[in-house]
Amino acid sequence: MGTNSTLALVSGANRGIGLAIAAGLARKGCHVLLGCRDVSRGEAAAGPLQLAGLQVWPLQLDTTSDASVAAATALITREYGHLDVLINNAGIGLDYDPTLTPMEMIQRSVAVNIVGTMRLTEAMIPLLAGSKSPRIVNLSSELASFGLRHDPSWPHADKKMPTYAASKAAVNSLTVSYAEQLADKGIKVNAICPGYTATEATNFMGTRTTEQAATIAIDLATRADCPTGTFVNDQGPLPW
Ligand SMILES: NC(=O)c1ccc[n+]([C@@H]2O[C@H](COP(=O)([O-])OP(=O)(O)OC[C@H]3O[C@@H](n4cnc5c(N)ncnc54)[C@H](OP(=O)(O)O)[C@@H]3O)[C@@H](O)[C@H]2O)c1
Repeated sequence: MGTNSTLALVSGANRGIGLAIAAGLARKGCHVLLGCRDVSRGEAAAGPLQLAGLQVWPLQLDTTSDASVAAATALITREYGHLDVLINNAGIGLDYDPTLTPMEMIQRSVAVNIVGTMRLTEAMIPLLAGSKSPRIVNLSSELASFGLRHDPSWPHADKKMPTYAASKAAVNSLTVSYAEQLADKGIKVNAICPGYTATEATNFMGTRTTEQAATIAIDLATRADCPTGTFVNDQGPLPW
């Protein structure tokens, strides 16, 4: 099933911001692999986009599973031989779940947000190295910003999510490290904040639409003059 289009993989793309990023990339002409833990949910999400003529294909992907990531890597290698864009979108925030202990919150958040992001990134680096314009975009959060948390006028100061914030701060650190490590392969690596968005993750209390949230990730994945090693939202640079 090869493609001449830009090939993108979005993790956690069966709903929320990941689905909007996948749809937005496809509307820009990309061939998009829609990473989903449950393929039936991925098919349900991809169906309307395919009917609209977009190249969006579900791919089973649980970023906490070595076997799942290995199978996805083998399929991309066999069918396409390379990857142009990796969007590390799969993520969880558990701090407001009253059924979990703090230790359960941090262990699960580390497993998905940090180790899962790294597992998928490590698997995709050889495929990205075969791209003419390789990009990695990591979904981070303003809540990970030490600079903003020290600003008393910051509008999200009321959001107390210690295990989520710690895990996304590690995503920011990985972004800087990978940007340095992968520079000689031409792979641009950036972290973005999509803003406070109406998805299941926020009980739909976020003020932004998933389409608004998706714009900065789509921009960094596709624009010609892409920087590397930055942390931004759609208004510009964010403090680390
Ligand atoms: N919403 C916000 O206001 C906001 C703000 C800043 C940053 N973010 C970040 O943006 C990203 C997307 O958030 P969202 O609001 O769209 O969340 P969401 O609606 O809860 O969607 C999360 C997605 O991640 C998937 N996922 C969870 N664990 C996974 C795993 N182990 N392997 C693969 N996929 C997994 C989920 O799959 P299932 O459907 O199978 O559970 C789902 O597709 C996250 O990284 C989040 O931290 C969100």
